[in-house]
Amino acid sequence: MSTRNIIPEAKKKAVSKLGPPLKVEAFASDQVEKLFSRSGEDVLVVVEDDRILGLLSRLVWEKASSYHLSLMPGELAFEIPQIFQILPDEEIFSLFQNPLRRIFWGEDLLSLEDFWVLRPPEDLSPRRLVLKGDLAYLREELLSVAQDLKIGLFLVGGAVRDLLLKRESFDLDFVVTRNCKVFAEVVSQKLKAPLVKSSLFGTFKLSWRGFEIDLAQARWEYYEAPAKLPKVAPGPLSWDLFRRDFTINALALDLETLTLVDFYGGERDLHERRLEVLHILSFVDDPTRLFRAARYATRFGLSLSPNFLKALELARRLKVISLLSPARLRNEIKRILVEEEPFAAFVWLKERKLLEELCGKEPDLSPLKRLLADSFFRDLNEDEKLVAILLSLSPQKDFLIRLGLSEKMSTWCENFFQELENKRNFLLSSKVSLSEKVFFLEKGPLSAILAFKAHYPELKEEMEKILAAQKTRPCLTGKDLQRMGISPGPLYGKILKHLRAAKIDGLLKNRDDEISFLKKEYPDVFSA
Ligand code: CTP
Repeated sequence: MSTRNIIPEAKKKAVSKLGPPLKVEAFASDQVEKLFSRSGEDVLVVVEDDRILGLLSRLVWEKASSYHLSLMPGELAFEIPQIFQILPDEEIFSLFQNPLRRIFWGEDLLSLEDFWVLRPPEDLSPRRLVLKGDLAYLREELLSVAQDLKIGLFLVGGAVRDLLLKRESFDLDFVVTRNCKVFAEVVSQKLKAPLVKSSLFGTFKLSWRGFEIDLAQARWEYYEAPAKLPKVAPGPLSWDLFRRDFTINALALDLETLTLVDFYGGERDLHERRLEVLHILSFVDDPTRLFRAARYATRFGLSLSPNFLKALELARRLKVISLLSPARLRNEIKRILVEEEPFAAFVWLKERKLLEELCGKEPDLSPLKRLLADSFFRDLNEDEKLVAILLSLSPQKDFLIRLGLSEKMSTWCENFFQELENKRNFLLSSKVSLSEKVFFLEKGPLSAILAFKAHYPELKEEMEKILAAQKTRPCLTGKDLQRMGISPGPLYGKILKHLRAAKIDGLLKNRDDEISFLKKEYPDVFSA
């Protein structure tokens, strides 16, 4: 049966049960409260000159009011999903007149909970997924516990998305309908995996055969202020999925029946390679989602839906990134760094003018590009990489502090960077010995040096020579000096540094050269 035939049928059913649709004009902010409270409806149809702009849910309107945002219905309206756009306007009106509770499919009530059931009608037969290997075993184990406790069990979020994409995922999030604590304890015993409770959201974590497993009770999150961490309360699965970032991550797999639970059209968006938000205030709730979007859009090659663009515009206008704590910002940058193409994610952010808000001005990304391609960069640990990335974006103290580096460290980095800039001629000069350059650069951390190198490509060759020379060490060690009868003391450091300098400068080839060098340079020590 085609979509065209079916939707009007659903409409007829809906119309017979409900009154006419409730409309609100795009600019009529003053009407909204009245319409919601008098009608008891949960959704209004937002119109402008008789053209439907989208749907405004009570939830989103109340959220905007609680954030003290004076936004108009048109700004908050969620564009009607494409699946319904093939219908004439009046049919859409009818279909959505009280869609939060009642969507019909022929004679059947399709959904009791959600106002946009986006799955194309052709796809309504339950979609079953197959689990294999460790995942199939894990499902059996968890399911038997869930069945004993008589609770529902779902795999949710990114792992379901990755299953649909046939990508491996080692990060597994499970949601149970209630009794999570008991469930987690029994599962932990069964899998012989110790349990860690997260105090923040009352979730449980365990590691098993290389999988990171999160167990949580289906919950609703509400944000008391933009960009703050949410408060949580138990809620139905559809709410748990609705509170999430994007439709492609708002998927669940019912582990009893192995059927896909897709209230918000995530599977279709994935199939059509589209990144879609669940409501227009998504980025205001949680601006880290902008960075997550950069990762998903570039990782999966996703285009952005009109609702996404509208939500993005609002986020930019309200400058929500500036509300994020340094720790959360840093965490998002670190997560970008482990992507296969981190640079693409930064470009994505820059193209959407989101780095401007972070760096104070539009950053030039070419130093970052050079840094990420630098073989020395791969030797840095996670924290050093972060510092190098930040310095490649901007070596300004204020920016570094904003990203959570201590005041002391930020000042030091800014000064060191300045010193490097002042010493550009020194570093390039053929009159300065290689060892002098090595010792100069050793005053600062490799992260800052690599960022500096990325900023000044004309220094690349010389810097690489210096960095390679940094590894040079003399053959003789302190023990050798002791064996030669030199009494231990500060002189050891001086001698070893001298030997190293001579070796860096190509004056010494082997151990014998070093001994002769010592005898010549330190005759007193040897004669003593
Ligand atoms: N989530 C969200 N908003 C956030 C962070 C997380 O809605 N700011 C939800 C998403 O549903 C996400 C799930 O929590 O799927 C788990 O988050 P996370 O482990 O960070 O992401 P994954 O989905 O596992 O994706 P990735 O491949 O990036 O790890």
